[in-house]
Amino acid sequence: MLDAGLRHETKQPLYEEVAGRISYLIEQGTLRPGDRVPSIRNLSKQMQVSINTVKEAYSQLEDRRLLEARPQSGYYVCAHLPELPAEPIVNRPALNPSEVNLSNVYRLVMQDLLKPELLQLGVAVPNPELLPIEKLNRMLTRETRRFAPQSVSYDLPPGNLRLRQQIAQRLLLSGCTLSPDQIVTTSGCVEAVVLALQVLCKPGDAVAIETPFYYNFLQVIEELGLKALEIPASPRGGISLEALEYALARNHGEVKACIVISNFNNPLGSLMSDEDKQKLVKLLENHQVPLIEDDIYGDLSYRDERPSVAKSFDKTGNVLLCSSISKTLAPGYRVGWIAAGRYQEQIEHRKMITNVAVPSPTQLAIAEFLANGGYEHHLRSIRRIYARQTAQMADAIGRFFPAGTRVSRPKGGFVLWVEMPEQIDSLKLYERCKQVGITIAPGQLFSIEGNFRNCIRLNAACWNPCVEAAIETLGRLAEELLAA
Ligand SMILES: Cc1ncc(COP(=O)(O)O)c(C=O)c1O
Repeated sequence: MLDAGLRHETKQPLYEEVAGRISYLIEQGTLRPGDRVPSIRNLSKQMQVSINTVKEAYSQLEDRRLLEARPQSGYYVCAHLPELPAEPIVNRPALNPSEVNLSNVYRLVMQDLLKPELLQLGVAVPNPELLPIEKLNRMLTRETRRFAPQSVSYDLPPGNLRLRQQIAQRLLLSGCTLSPDQIVTTSGCVEAVVLALQVLCKPGDAVAIETPFYYNFLQVIEELGLKALEIPASPRGGISLEALEYALARNHGEVKACIVISNFNNPLGSLMSDEDKQKLVKLLENHQVPLIEDDIYGDLSYRDERPSVAKSFDKTGNVLLCSSISKTLAPGYRVGWIAAGRYQEQIEHRKMITNVAVPSPTQLAIAEFLANGGYEHHLRSIRRIYARQTAQMADAIGRFFPAGTRVSRPKGGFVLWVEMPEQIDSLKLYERCKQVGITIAPGQLFSIEGNFRNCIRLNAACWNPCVEAAIETLGRLAEELLAA
Protein backbone atom coordinates (compact mmCIF):
# COMPACT_ATOMS: atom_id res chain seq x y z
CA MET A 1 0.00 0.00 0.00
CA LEU A 2 2.76 2.43 0.89
CA ASP A 3 6.02 2.84 -0.97
CA ALA A 4 8.87 1.46 1.02
CA GLY A 5 11.54 3.96 1.99
CA LEU A 6 11.17 7.71 2.19
CA ARG A 7 13.09 10.19 0.16
CA HIS A 8 15.37 11.49 2.87
CA GLU A 9 16.54 14.44 0.81
CA THR A 10 13.29 16.43 1.34
CA LYS A 11 13.48 19.32 3.81
CA GLN A 12 10.50 18.07 5.85
CA PRO A 13 11.11 16.19 9.08
CA LEU A 14 10.61 12.46 8.49
CA TYR A 15 7.59 12.12 10.75
CA GLU A 16 5.83 14.85 8.77
CA GLU A 17 6.46 12.95 5.58
CA VAL A 18 5.01 9.84 7.15
CA ALA A 19 2.01 11.81 8.47
CA GLY A 20 1.62 13.43 5.04
CA ARG A 21 1.43 10.08 3.30
CA ILE A 22 -1.17 8.69 5.66
CA SER A 23 -3.29 11.84 5.46
CA TYR A 24 -3.01 11.71 1.65
CA LEU A 25 -4.36 8.15 1.69
CA ILE A 26 -7.23 9.31 3.91
CA GLU A 27 -7.99 12.32 1.68
CA GLN A 28 -8.01 10.11 -1.41
CA GLY A 29 -10.32 7.60 0.26
CA THR A 30 -7.80 4.74 0.16
CA LEU A 31 -8.02 4.64 3.93
CA ARG A 32 -11.66 5.11 4.94
CA PRO A 33 -13.29 6.10 8.26
CA GLY A 34 -13.05 3.18 10.67
CA ASP A 35 -10.18 1.48 8.77
CA ARG A 36 -7.31 0.20 10.80
CA VAL A 37 -3.99 1.74 9.73
CA PRO A 38 -0.73 -0.23 9.78
CA SER A 39 0.68 -0.86 13.23
CA ILE A 40 3.56 1.33 14.31
CA ARG A 41 5.99 -1.58 14.01
CA ASN A 42 4.81 -2.58 10.54
CA LEU A 43 4.84 0.90 9.15
CA SER A 44 8.26 1.54 10.57
CA LYS A 45 9.54 -1.57 8.76
CA GLN A 46 7.67 -0.83 5.59
CA MET A 47 8.84 2.76 5.36
CA GLN A 48 12.28 2.11 6.79
CA VAL A 49 11.95 4.71 9.49
CA SER A 50 12.27 4.43 13.27
CA ILE A 51 9.45 3.44 15.59
CA ASN A 52 9.61 6.91 17.16
CA THR A 53 9.15 8.57 13.78
CA VAL A 54 5.93 6.64 13.18
CA LYS A 55 4.75 7.31 16.75
CA GLU A 56 5.28 11.02 16.26
CA ALA A 57 3.49 10.93 12.89
CA TYR A 58 0.49 9.10 14.37
CA SER A 59 0.35 11.46 17.28
CA GLN A 60 0.23 14.41 14.85
CA LEU A 61 -2.59 12.74 12.94
CA GLU A 62 -4.44 12.25 16.23
CA ASP A 63 -4.05 15.96 16.94
CA ARG A 64 -5.57 16.66 13.55
CA ARG A 65 -8.42 14.31 14.36
CA LEU A 66 -7.66 12.04 11.42
CA LEU A 67 -6.61 9.02 13.51
CA GLU A 68 -7.73 7.66 16.85
CA ALA A 69 -5.92 5.19 19.09
CA ARG A 70 -8.00 2.30 20.42
CA PRO A 71 -6.61 0.63 23.54
CA GLN A 72 -5.10 -2.81 22.87
CA SER A 73 -6.11 -2.59 19.25
CA GLY A 74 -4.06 0.00 17.38
CA TYR A 75 -4.75 3.10 15.32
CA TYR A 76 -7.88 3.68 13.22
CA VAL A 77 -9.06 6.36 10.81
CA CYS A 78 -11.55 8.45 12.81
CA ALA A 79 -15.14 7.42 12.20
CA HIS A 80 -16.12 11.08 11.76
CA LEU A 81 -13.46 12.84 9.79
CA PRO A 82 -13.50 16.62 10.12
CA GLU A 83 -15.44 17.82 7.10
CA LEU A 84 -13.92 21.16 6.47
CA PRO A 85 -15.99 23.72 4.63
CA ALA A 86 -14.61 25.00 1.29
CA GLU A 87 -12.01 27.76 1.31
CA PRO A 88 -13.02 31.43 0.93
CA ILE A 89 -12.89 33.26 -2.39
CA VAL A 90 -11.58 36.79 -2.20
CA ASN A 91 -13.23 39.29 -4.54
CA ARG A 92 -11.32 41.63 -6.78
CA PRO A 93 -10.77 45.25 -5.74
CA ALA A 94 -10.70 48.14 -8.21
CA LEU A 95 -6.89 48.57 -8.16
CA ASN A 96 -7.16 52.35 -7.69
CA PRO A 97 -5.41 54.02 -4.76
CA SER A 98 -8.07 55.29 -2.33
CA GLU A 99 -8.16 57.22 0.89
CA VAL A 100 -8.83 55.16 3.98
CA ASN A 101 -11.72 56.02 6.26
CA LEU A 102 -12.49 53.23 8.60
CA SER A 103 -12.46 55.07 11.86
CA ASN A 104 -16.09 54.47 12.82
CA VAL A 105 -16.09 50.70 12.55
CA TYR A 106 -12.61 50.60 14.05
CA ARG A 107 -13.58 52.64 17.10
CA LEU A 108 -16.69 50.57 17.65
CA VAL A 109 -14.69 47.36 17.67
CA MET A 110 -11.74 48.73 19.67
CA GLN A 111 -14.02 49.94 22.49
CA ASP A 112 -15.17 46.38 23.03
CA LEU A 113 -11.63 45.01 23.08
CA LEU A 114 -11.10 46.28 26.58
CA LYS A 115 -14.18 44.64 28.06
CA PRO A 116 -13.17 41.58 30.06
CA GLU A 117 -16.77 40.39 30.32
CA LEU A 118 -16.84 39.65 26.56
CA LEU A 119 -15.41 36.45 25.06
CA GLN A 120 -12.88 37.97 22.67
CA LEU A 121 -12.88 35.92 19.49
CA GLY A 122 -12.26 39.02 17.39
CA VAL A 123 -8.72 39.88 18.47
CA ALA A 124 -5.62 38.14 17.17
CA VAL A 125 -3.87 37.68 20.50
CA PRO A 126 -2.06 34.55 21.66
CA ASN A 127 -3.51 32.36 24.38
CA PRO A 128 -1.97 33.65 27.65
CA GLU A 129 -2.00 30.12 29.04
CA LEU A 130 0.46 29.14 26.32
CA LEU A 131 2.95 31.92 27.07
CA PRO A 132 5.98 31.21 29.31
CA ILE A 133 4.94 34.00 31.65
CA GLU A 134 6.70 32.91 34.83
CA LYS A 135 9.94 32.08 33.12
CA LEU A 136 9.94 35.38 31.26
CA ASN A 137 9.18 37.40 34.34
CA ARG A 138 11.88 35.57 36.29
CA MET A 139 14.33 36.43 33.55
CA LEU A 140 13.17 40.03 33.64
CA THR A 141 13.96 40.24 37.35
CA ARG A 142 17.27 38.44 37.02
CA GLU A 143 18.49 40.38 34.02
CA THR A 144 17.57 43.77 35.42
CA ARG A 145 19.54 42.86 38.55
CA ARG A 146 22.46 41.53 36.56
CA PHE A 147 22.63 44.65 34.37
CA ALA A 148 21.25 47.16 36.88
CA PRO A 149 22.65 50.42 35.45
CA GLN A 150 21.89 49.34 31.89
CA SER A 151 18.34 48.36 32.80
CA VAL A 152 17.45 51.94 33.71
CA SER A 153 19.42 53.66 30.94
CA TYR A 154 18.48 54.40 27.35
CA ASP A 155 19.50 51.63 24.97
CA LEU A 156 19.66 54.01 22.03
CA PRO A 157 18.88 52.89 18.45
CA PRO A 158 19.74 50.45 17.02
CA GLY A 159 18.90 49.01 20.47
CA ASN A 160 20.16 46.27 22.78
CA LEU A 161 23.15 44.55 21.20
CA ARG A 162 22.62 41.12 22.74
CA LEU A 163 19.00 41.14 21.59
CA ARG A 164 20.03 42.09 18.06
CA GLN A 165 22.62 39.28 18.08
CA GLN A 166 19.95 36.80 19.07
CA ILE A 167 17.56 38.10 16.41
CA ALA A 168 20.29 37.90 13.76
CA GLN A 169 20.96 34.28 14.77
CA ARG A 170 17.29 33.38 14.52
CA LEU A 171 17.00 35.10 11.14
CA LEU A 172 19.34 32.45 9.76
CA LEU A 173 16.38 30.05 10.03
CA SER A 174 14.38 32.37 7.75
CA GLY A 175 17.17 32.31 5.16
CA CYS A 176 18.72 35.70 6.07
CA THR A 177 22.37 36.32 6.81
CA LEU A 178 22.36 39.63 8.63
CA SER A 179 24.64 41.21 11.19
CA PRO A 180 23.27 42.77 14.40
CA ASP A 181 24.15 46.17 12.91
CA GLN A 182 21.51 45.65 10.25
CA ILE A 183 18.72 45.40 12.83
CA VAL A 184 16.94 48.09 14.88
CA THR A 185 14.80 47.12 17.86
CA THR A 186 11.33 48.66 18.04
CA SER A 187 8.30 48.74 20.31
CA GLY A 188 6.60 45.80 18.63
CA CYS A 189 6.01 45.07 14.98
CA VAL A 190 3.50 47.87 14.52
CA GLU A 191 6.12 50.47 15.36
CA ALA A 192 8.52 48.83 12.91
CA VAL A 193 5.95 49.16 10.11
CA VAL A 194 5.03 52.74 11.11
CA LEU A 195 8.70 53.78 11.08
CA ALA A 196 9.14 52.17 7.66
CA LEU A 197 6.10 54.00 6.24
CA GLN A 198 7.26 57.30 7.71
CA VAL A 199 10.68 56.91 6.15
CA LEU A 200 9.39 55.77 2.75
CA CYS A 201 6.26 57.87 2.17
CA LYS A 202 4.86 61.36 2.48
CA PRO A 203 1.16 62.31 2.74
CA GLY A 204 -0.71 61.64 -0.48
CA ASP A 205 1.54 58.75 -1.56
CA ALA A 206 0.04 55.33 -2.23
CA VAL A 207 0.94 52.06 -0.51
CA ALA A 208 0.17 48.72 -2.15
CA ILE A 209 -1.38 46.28 0.32
CA GLU A 210 -3.03 42.89 0.24
CA THR A 211 -6.76 42.69 0.66
CA PRO A 212 -8.20 41.74 3.11
CA PHE A 213 -5.55 43.46 5.23
CA TYR A 214 -4.72 43.69 8.95
CA TYR A 215 -6.92 46.56 10.11
CA ASN A 216 -4.39 48.27 12.38
CA PHE A 217 -2.19 48.95 9.38
CA LEU A 218 -5.16 50.38 7.49
CA GLN A 219 -5.57 52.78 10.41
CA VAL A 220 -1.88 53.66 10.26
CA ILE A 221 -2.17 54.37 6.52
CA GLU A 222 -5.16 56.61 7.21
CA GLU A 223 -3.43 58.46 10.06
CA LEU A 224 -0.32 59.12 7.95
CA GLY A 225 -2.46 60.61 5.17
CA LEU A 226 -1.51 57.88 2.70
CA LYS A 227 -3.65 56.11 0.12
CA ALA A 228 -4.07 52.37 -0.01
CA LEU A 229 -3.93 50.38 -3.23
CA GLU A 230 -5.68 47.09 -2.50
CA ILE A 231 -4.30 44.03 -4.30
CA PRO A 232 -6.31 40.80 -4.16
CA ALA A 233 -4.86 37.90 -2.20
CA SER A 234 -5.75 34.25 -1.93
CA PRO A 235 -6.13 32.33 1.34
CA ARG A 236 -3.55 29.84 0.08
CA GLY A 237 -0.71 31.70 -1.61
CA GLY A 238 -1.25 35.32 -0.56
CA ILE A 239 -0.90 38.43 -2.72
CA SER A 240 -1.63 38.08 -6.44
CA LEU A 241 1.62 38.98 -8.18
CA GLU A 242 -0.17 39.39 -11.48
CA ALA A 243 -2.56 41.95 -10.02
CA LEU A 244 0.31 43.70 -8.25
CA GLU A 245 2.31 43.95 -11.47
CA TYR A 246 -0.70 45.33 -13.30
CA ALA A 247 -1.48 47.84 -10.54
CA LEU A 248 2.13 49.02 -10.32
CA ALA A 249 2.26 49.61 -14.07
CA ARG A 250 -1.09 51.41 -14.00
CA ASN A 251 -0.23 53.65 -11.05
CA HIS A 252 3.33 54.23 -12.14
CA GLY A 253 5.34 56.37 -9.74
CA GLU A 254 2.49 56.83 -7.28
CA VAL A 255 3.18 53.75 -5.17
CA LYS A 256 5.97 54.38 -2.67
CA ALA A 257 5.85 51.16 -0.65
CA CYS A 258 4.24 47.75 -0.58
CA ILE A 259 3.33 45.95 2.67
CA VAL A 260 3.01 42.18 2.64
CA ILE A 261 2.40 39.75 5.51
CA SER A 262 4.20 36.90 3.82
CA ASN A 263 3.80 34.02 6.29
CA PHE A 264 0.47 32.96 7.85
CA ASN A 265 -1.10 36.24 6.98
CA ASN A 266 -3.55 38.01 9.26
CA PRO A 267 -6.44 37.63 8.44
CA LEU A 268 -6.24 35.13 5.54
CA GLY A 269 -3.70 32.69 6.96
CA SER A 270 -2.02 32.54 3.55
CA LEU A 271 1.58 31.44 3.05
CA MET A 272 3.59 32.68 0.07
CA SER A 273 5.77 30.09 -1.64
CA ASP A 274 9.52 30.69 -1.89
CA GLU A 275 9.11 31.14 -5.61
CA ASP A 276 6.51 33.86 -5.15
CA LYS A 277 8.57 35.57 -2.47
CA GLN A 278 11.48 35.69 -4.88
CA LYS A 279 9.29 37.01 -7.70
CA LEU A 280 7.76 39.63 -5.40
CA VAL A 281 11.19 40.92 -4.41
CA LYS A 282 12.27 41.11 -8.07
CA LEU A 283 9.06 42.78 -9.22
CA LEU A 284 9.25 45.48 -6.56
CA GLU A 285 12.92 46.04 -7.22
CA ASN A 286 12.17 46.55 -10.92
CA HIS A 287 9.55 49.14 -10.03
CA GLN A 288 11.79 50.68 -7.36
CA VAL A 289 9.12 50.18 -4.73
CA PRO A 290 10.46 49.11 -1.30
CA LEU A 291 8.84 46.10 0.33
CA ILE A 292 7.80 46.25 3.99
CA GLU A 293 7.55 42.59 4.96
CA ASP A 294 5.68 41.65 8.16
CA ASP A 295 6.72 38.21 9.41
CA ILE A 296 5.14 38.30 12.86
CA TYR A 297 3.53 34.84 12.49
CA GLY A 298 6.46 33.11 10.74
CA ASP A 299 7.59 31.24 13.88
CA LEU A 300 4.11 29.76 14.30
CA SER A 301 4.34 27.34 11.39
CA TYR A 302 2.48 24.08 12.08
CA ARG A 303 5.55 22.29 10.80
CA ASP A 304 8.70 22.19 12.83
CA GLU A 305 10.48 24.24 10.23
CA ARG A 306 9.62 27.89 9.85
CA PRO A 307 9.20 29.28 6.31
CA SER A 308 11.64 31.64 4.64
CA VAL A 309 11.08 35.37 4.38
CA ALA A 310 11.06 37.46 1.19
CA LYS A 311 13.97 39.37 2.73
CA SER A 312 16.13 36.28 2.19
CA PHE A 313 15.91 36.94 -1.59
CA ASP A 314 16.80 40.62 -1.25
CA LYS A 315 20.13 41.51 -2.82
CA THR A 316 19.76 45.29 -2.97
CA GLY A 317 18.47 46.26 0.49
CA ASN A 318 14.99 47.01 -0.88
CA VAL A 319 13.18 44.89 1.74
CA LEU A 320 12.44 46.13 5.26
CA LEU A 321 11.67 43.07 7.37
CA CYS A 322 9.52 43.70 10.45
CA SER A 323 8.59 41.34 13.26
CA SER A 324 8.22 40.90 17.02
CA ILE A 325 7.74 38.39 19.83
CA SER A 326 4.13 39.53 20.37
CA LYS A 327 2.56 36.34 18.97
CA THR A 328 4.95 33.87 20.55
CA LEU A 329 6.19 35.24 23.89
CA ALA A 330 4.75 38.45 25.30
CA PRO A 331 2.66 41.04 23.44
CA GLY A 332 2.86 43.36 26.44
CA TYR A 333 6.67 43.44 26.50
CA ARG A 334 6.55 45.50 23.30
CA VAL A 335 9.71 44.09 21.74
CA GLY A 336 9.99 44.01 17.97
CA TRP A 337 12.55 44.78 15.29
CA ILE A 338 13.19 45.88 11.75
CA ALA A 339 15.97 44.83 9.39
CA ALA A 340 15.71 47.84 7.14
CA GLY A 341 18.17 47.15 4.31
CA ARG A 342 19.40 50.34 2.70
CA TYR A 343 17.08 52.40 4.92
CA GLN A 344 18.82 51.34 8.13
CA GLU A 345 20.25 54.73 9.01
CA GLN A 346 17.01 56.57 8.34
CA ILE A 347 15.07 54.09 10.46
CA GLU A 348 17.52 54.47 13.36
CA HIS A 349 17.15 58.24 13.15
CA ARG A 350 13.37 58.05 12.93
CA LYS A 351 13.22 55.71 15.92
CA MET A 352 15.39 58.10 17.92
CA ILE A 353 13.25 61.16 17.24
CA THR A 354 9.98 59.26 17.73
CA ASN A 355 10.48 57.84 21.23
CA VAL A 356 14.26 57.53 21.79
CA ALA A 357 14.46 53.80 22.57
CA VAL A 358 12.68 50.56 23.36
CA PRO A 359 12.42 50.05 27.16
CA SER A 360 15.65 48.42 28.34
CA PRO A 361 14.27 45.85 30.84
CA THR A 362 12.15 43.97 28.31
CA GLN A 363 14.95 43.99 25.73
CA LEU A 364 17.28 42.44 28.33
CA ALA A 365 14.72 39.79 29.25
CA ILE A 366 13.89 38.80 25.67
CA ALA A 367 17.58 38.63 24.75
CA GLU A 368 18.09 36.21 27.64
CA PHE A 369 15.00 34.17 26.74
CA LEU A 370 16.10 33.80 23.13
CA ALA A 371 19.60 32.80 24.27
CA ASN A 372 18.78 30.47 27.17
CA GLY A 373 15.02 30.19 27.65
CA GLY A 374 14.28 27.24 25.38
CA TYR A 375 12.50 29.30 22.70
CA GLU A 376 12.61 26.47 20.12
CA HIS A 377 11.15 24.02 22.60
CA HIS A 378 8.40 26.50 23.45
CA LEU A 379 7.65 26.98 19.73
CA ARG A 380 7.41 23.24 19.13
CA SER A 381 4.77 22.89 21.78
CA ILE A 382 2.60 25.90 20.84
CA ARG A 383 2.78 25.12 17.12
CA ARG A 384 1.13 21.76 17.71
CA ILE A 385 -1.53 23.22 19.94
CA TYR A 386 -2.42 25.98 17.48
CA ALA A 387 -2.49 23.47 14.61
CA ARG A 388 -4.95 21.31 16.51
CA GLN A 389 -7.10 24.19 17.69
CA THR A 390 -7.49 25.90 14.32
CA ALA A 391 -8.56 22.52 12.89
CA GLN A 392 -11.05 22.07 15.74
CA MET A 393 -12.51 25.53 15.27
CA ALA A 394 -12.74 25.10 11.47
CA ASP A 395 -14.49 21.81 12.04
CA ALA A 396 -16.98 23.43 14.46
CA ILE A 397 -17.65 26.22 11.95
CA GLY A 398 -18.43 23.54 9.39
CA ARG A 399 -20.91 21.98 11.82
CA PHE A 400 -22.66 25.08 13.14
CA PHE A 401 -22.55 27.81 10.48
CA PRO A 402 -25.06 28.14 7.62
CA ALA A 403 -24.56 25.94 4.58
CA GLY A 404 -22.24 27.54 2.04
CA THR A 405 -19.92 29.02 4.69
CA ARG A 406 -16.26 28.84 3.71
CA VAL A 407 -13.26 28.83 6.01
CA SER A 408 -9.51 29.25 5.51
CA ARG A 409 -7.03 26.43 6.17
CA PRO A 410 -3.95 28.14 7.53
CA LYS A 411 -0.68 26.28 7.89
CA GLY A 412 0.43 28.47 10.76
CA GLY A 413 -0.70 31.20 13.15
CA PHE A 414 -4.03 31.08 14.95
CA VAL A 415 -6.65 33.06 13.04
CA LEU A 416 -9.39 31.83 10.73
CA TRP A 417 -11.07 33.77 7.94
CA VAL A 418 -14.70 32.83 7.54
CA GLU A 419 -16.80 33.72 4.51
CA MET A 420 -20.52 33.33 5.18
CA PRO A 421 -23.36 33.42 2.64
CA GLU A 422 -23.61 36.83 0.98
CA GLN A 423 -26.83 37.89 2.69
CA ILE A 424 -25.19 37.98 6.11
CA ASP A 425 -23.87 41.37 7.20
CA SER A 426 -21.01 40.78 9.62
CA LEU A 427 -21.56 44.14 11.36
CA LYS A 428 -25.09 43.05 12.23
CA LEU A 429 -23.70 39.74 13.39
CA TYR A 430 -21.17 41.69 15.46
CA GLU A 431 -23.94 43.61 17.22
CA ARG A 432 -25.96 40.49 17.89
CA CYS A 433 -23.13 38.43 19.25
CA LYS A 434 -21.98 41.27 21.46
CA GLN A 435 -25.40 41.15 23.11
CA VAL A 436 -24.68 37.56 24.09
CA GLY A 437 -21.14 38.32 25.28
CA ILE A 438 -18.99 37.37 22.27
CA THR A 439 -16.89 39.54 19.96
CA ILE A 440 -15.77 38.82 16.41
CA ALA A 441 -13.79 40.89 13.89
CA PRO A 442 -16.23 41.98 11.15
CA GLY A 443 -14.91 41.69 7.60
CA GLN A 444 -15.50 45.38 6.77
CA LEU A 445 -12.60 46.27 9.07
CA PHE A 446 -10.15 44.62 6.71
CA SER A 447 -10.80 46.66 3.57
CA ILE A 448 -10.90 50.34 2.66
CA GLU A 449 -13.74 49.79 0.25
CA GLY A 450 -16.11 48.17 2.74
CA ASN A 451 -15.60 44.78 1.09
CA PHE A 452 -15.92 41.49 2.97
CA ARG A 453 -19.32 42.42 4.45
CA ASN A 454 -20.13 38.74 4.79
CA CYS A 455 -16.79 37.72 6.32
CA ILE A 456 -15.42 37.54 9.84
CA ARG A 457 -12.04 36.76 11.37
CA LEU A 458 -11.95 34.51 14.40
CA ASN A 459 -9.18 33.84 16.89
CA ALA A 460 -8.53 30.13 17.45
CA ALA A 461 -5.76 30.63 20.03
CA CYS A 462 -8.03 29.21 22.76
CA TRP A 463 -10.16 26.11 22.39
CA ASN A 464 -12.35 24.78 25.17
CA PRO A 465 -16.03 23.87 25.65
CA CYS A 466 -16.90 27.51 26.24
CA VAL A 467 -15.36 28.59 22.90
CA GLU A 468 -17.01 25.68 21.13
CA ALA A 469 -20.37 26.77 22.58
CA ALA A 470 -19.64 30.32 21.38
CA ILE A 471 -19.05 29.03 17.84
CA GLU A 472 -22.36 27.22 18.03
CA THR A 473 -24.06 30.45 19.15
CA LEU A 474 -22.39 32.42 16.34
CA GLY A 475 -23.58 29.84 13.85
CA ARG A 476 -27.14 30.11 15.17
CA LEU A 477 -27.09 33.93 15.03
CA ALA A 478 -25.73 33.75 11.47
CA GLU A 479 -28.58 31.37 10.56
CA GLU A 480 -31.08 33.83 12.04
CA LEU A 481 -29.64 36.73 10.04
CA LEU A 482 -29.78 34.61 6.92
CA ALA A 483 -33.42 33.73 7.53
CA ALA A 484 -34.28 37.37 8.23
C1 LIG B 1 0.14 41.09 10.97
C2 LIG B 1 0.35 41.75 12.28
N1 LIG B 1 1.37 42.62 12.41
C3 LIG B 1 1.59 43.24 13.58
C4 LIG B 1 0.79 43.00 14.68
C5 LIG B 1 1.04 43.71 15.98
O1 LIG B 1 2.35 43.50 16.40
P1 LIG B 1 2.97 44.09 17.73
O2 LIG B 1 2.02 43.79 18.86
O3 LIG B 1 4.27 43.40 17.85
O4 LIG B 1 3.14 45.56 17.51
C6 LIG B 1 -0.27 42.11 14.58
C7 LIG B 1 -1.15 41.85 15.74
O5 LIG B 1 -2.27 41.41 15.61
C8 LIG B 1 -0.49 41.46 13.35
O6 LIG B 1 -1.47 40.58 13.22
